[in-house]
Amino acid sequence: MCGIVGYTGPREAYPIIIKGLKRLEYRGYDSTGVALLNSGLKVYKKKGRVAELEDSIVGKDLHAHTGIGHTRWATHGEPSDRNAHPHTSRSGKLAMIHNGIIENYAQLKQDLTKKGYQFKSDTDTEVLLNFIEDIKENNQCNLEEAVRIALKRVTGAYVILLIANDDPDTIIAARKGSPLVIGVGKGEHFLGSDASPMLEYTKEVVYVNDYELAIVRPDELILKNLGNEKITPFVTKLDMELAAIEKGGYDHFMLKEIFEQPSTIHDCLRGRLDAEAGLITMSGITNNLEHFKNANRIIIIACGTSWHAGLVAEYIIEELCRIPVEVEYASEFRYRNPIVNKGDIIFAISQSGETADTLVAIEKAKEQGAIIFGIVNVVGSSIARISDGGAYTHAGPEIGVASTKAFTAQLAVLTMVALKIAKEKNTISEALYKELLFELAEVPEKVEVLLKSADTIKAIAEKYKDSPNALFLGRGYNFPIALEGALKLKEISYIHAEGYPAAEMKHGPIALVDENLPVVFVATKDSYHEKIVSNIQEIKARKGKVIAIITEGDETTPTLADDVYYVPSAHEIIAPMLATIPLQLLSYYVGIAKGVDVDKPRNLAKSVTVE
Ligand code: M6R
Repeated sequence: MCGIVGYTGPREAYPIIIKGLKRLEYRGYDSTGVALLNSGLKVYKKKGRVAELEDSIVGKDLHAHTGIGHTRWATHGEPSDRNAHPHTSRSGKLAMIHNGIIENYAQLKQDLTKKGYQFKSDTDTEVLLNFIEDIKENNQCNLEEAVRIALKRVTGAYVILLIANDDPDTIIAARKGSPLVIGVGKGEHFLGSDASPMLEYTKEVVYVNDYELAIVRPDELILKNLGNEKITPFVTKLDMELAAIEKGGYDHFMLKEIFEQPSTIHDCLRGRLDAEAGLITMSGITNNLEHFKNANRIIIIACGTSWHAGLVAEYIIEELCRIPVEVEYASEFRYRNPIVNKGDIIFAISQSGETADTLVAIEKAKEQGAIIFGIVNVVGSSIARISDGGAYTHAGPEIGVASTKAFTAQLAVLTMVALKIAKEKNTISEALYKELLFELAEVPEKVEVLLKSADTIKAIAEKYKDSPNALFLGRGYNFPIALEGALKLKEISYIHAEGYPAAEMKHGPIALVDENLPVVFVATKDSYHEKIVSNIQEIKARKGKVIAIITEGDETTPTLADDVYYVPSAHEIIAPMLATIPLQLLSYYVGIAKGVDVDKPRNLAKSVTVE
């Protein structure tokens, strides 16, 4: 969480930083601030979004060639002007921005307070900054050395960018556990939480690793470890175009990303799936083939929407590969004493590749000897880099805070993974294998078709937008889709929604049902269809309002439901990819009808880099 941007070079720093912060606002939007170096340090910061800061400083002296900027997702201290970053040190000579949490800040603060320090904010960041300054003064060392000493004594996660008024073109940066990308230009450098702030200036980037410190000047990038040894920066070429991070005519990123799904699923399958030839090419599996064939167990670790993709995968892998699968919330897995055995494979699923809980959980599993297979969207992200193998989802940048296209791409990758392993293990019949390959290849086209009737969902959204609660039910492969539908609605419309296995509903949630409760059934044709139709009857008998996502050609369900939305017919293993899309649209249109800022719903951030 939190977005950070930095620039040093011949251009005006402020417009680059502001534009970069707008692109990183998905990481948090509680407050915004910039610090500029131009004959001294100028800091402008404010509670609220980037545009609010911009408006408030029109006419101020914003000229500078070096500067840093921050967009905050609050951890320590409420969103306010005084808690906004950048923070300045006691002397006023240093300014710093931070993404992460300094866990031992309370002890450091106590020590500094005893020395007479007073703090202007409630943040852990201000504590770390003054700790650095204190070390610099007491040890009579330079700033770089002071940062190194301080970072060896802090626990927690951080990316920091630090500037000093007596060193007008230098940015000191360091990372542990939160992402940091440095763009390398000609006589200039860009820094960001991801590559989006630098896309139009350079395609050459360096991904900074944990425990590395960078000294960044216009024509110099020095990378060191905390032991002060130099490291050669590894420059990577970005494969991303500016258009991918712009709205492209849509009102919101979320809508654009929903409508991009025919092409993102296609991109995900491209080069991997050859239905005619009966082939799935996935080097991440082939390179570890024996491990996959002999796996005793697959443990899937993820959070949020990615966790839901893991649940769908559990059903598919157990069915096709006959390997036991456990799906774990990363935040729970990491804090218990999980049993990881030789022969277990860990799947880490993450859109951002930076989710702190997932990252630390897989680090822990890796220490125990597990093989990590990353299913990640953001190329070069931390989870991708620490995985032993994996498959990128190739959904392109997902900017809307609610995950949409990344989810369907995760499902596509996981289905291919399951099919590939099943084929290699010989646990799938040739006929089913072929059928599923062809079905998978048809998904982009089917998504295209179902998106054409988005207006049907818009009308349903209008009808139910004022409901305070909603229930989402599904069975089998569609149970996790019900969970995902409920999560989307909560995030984007602030309506309380619960997802449940349809049959489990009668063990409690049925008490909620009355004539005002909308109940969304994910009821595409599958092996349990008759069972879910009975569950619909049970809701109708209690006067609940039924919205059913069903398969084209289903003639029974419409007679029971209040509202229906048809998706093209597909095999039950493939259908979740289709059924999820109307639920994404439902949350989007309800959110819009309620006036929610759907791309940046309250309290959330896209990339959760704190525990
Ligand atoms: O980047 P990740 O996939 O690791 O993120 C996991 C969750 O934080 C994420 O899916 C979150 O639940 C989204 N807000 C869902 O829309």
